[in-house]
Amino acid sequence: MKSIGVVGGGQMGSGIAQLAAVHGLHVWLLDSDPTALSRASSSISNSIHRLVSKGHLSQVVGTNALRLLQCTSNLEDLCSADVVIEAIVESEDVKKKLFSELDKLTKRSAILASNTSSISITRLASATTRPSQVIGMHFMNPPPIMKLVEIIRGANTSDETFNATKALAERFGKIVICSQDFSGFIVNRILMPMINEAFFTLYTGVATKEDIDTGMKLGTNHPMGPLELADFIGLDVCLSIMRVLHAGLGDSKYIPCPLLVQYVDAGRLGRKRGVGVYDYSKGKTTERV
Ligand code: NAI
Repeated sequence: MKSIGVVGGGQMGSGIAQLAAVHGLHVWLLDSDPTALSRASSSISNSIHRLVSKGHLSQVVGTNALRLLQCTSNLEDLCSADVVIEAIVESEDVKKKLFSELDKLTKRSAILASNTSSISITRLASATTRPSQVIGMHFMNPPPIMKLVEIIRGANTSDETFNATKALAERFGKIVICSQDFSGFIVNRILMPMINEAFFTLYTGVATKEDIDTGMKLGTNHPMGPLELADFIGLDVCLSIMRVLHAGLGDSKYIPCPLLVQYVDAGRLGRKRGVGVYDYSKGKTTERV
C-alpha cells in the first residue's frame, strides 16, 4: 500500500492521518468542513513538531510525514487511494451515503474501511458494490498513541481484505484484535455501558463527578475515570454508541442516561467543545496528543 484516504478530520481522522504519514504513506485527509480541516492540519503539524522536539520521532521522518500529508475537501482526490478509512460522524445514514460515493469514485481494488465505534460493517458494506472489500478498522483515541486496533469483518469481508487491513495496522505498530460484526464490537460493548452507568450514578445523586472518577481510577486502576474518559471521547460519540447498542441488542440496559442526552442537547460535548461533564475553559488542555 502506498496511498491512503482518510475521511473526517476530527480527533480520530486527524490522528489516523498523522499515523499513516509517519509510516510513509501518501495521505489525503478530507473533511467537508473547511474549519475542521485547517484545525486538523495545524493539530497534526503541532503534534509532529512536538514528537520531533521530544526525540520520539526523527527529524527526517517528521519532515517526510508533513510532506506526505495533503488536505482536501474534494472527494475525487481520493480516487487513487489504495485504502480509504472513514472517520466521520457516528451516524449510519451519513456513513452509508459516504460509502456509496466512495464506491463510485475510488479504484476497484481499493479497500473501504470504517473507524466506526459501533455501527454494523455488513450494513455499511451494503451501500457499496464491493462488500468483500469493506471492513471495520477501529482505532482507539488518540490513534498515534494507543496500541490497539479492533478489526471487524462484515458478513461478506474477504480473507484478502482482512489480511491487508491487519498488515496495515501492524505496519502502524498496532496490536490487532478481531471482532464479529455485532453492535459495539468488543471494546465499546463493554466500555460504553460502564460510562453510561457512571452518568446514572451522577444523575441519581449517588456521588459527585470527582468521587465517581476517583473511585474508578484508584479503585480499579483505570488511568482515567469514566466521566473524564467520556469527555475525552466526546459525549455525542458516547450517546450515538449507546443508541446503536440499544437498537442493535434490544436490551433496556443500553438505554442512554437522560443526563448524557441532556448534556449533548446542551452542546456540552466534552473536551473538544471546552465543556462536558467538566469545564475545560479555564486552562485544562484540549489539545490532541
Ligand atoms: P469528530 O466529531 O471529532 O470528527 C468528525 C469529523 O467528520 C468532523 O470534522 C466533521 O466535519 C467530519 N464530517 C462529518 N460528516 C462528514 C462527511 N460526510 N464528509 C466528510 N467529513 C465529514 O468525531 P471523532 O471523535 O473523530 O469520531 C469519528 C468516528 O470515529 C466516529 O465514527 C466515532 O464513533 C469513531 N471513533 C471515535 C473515538 C473517540 O474516542 N472519539 C474512538 C474510536 C472511534
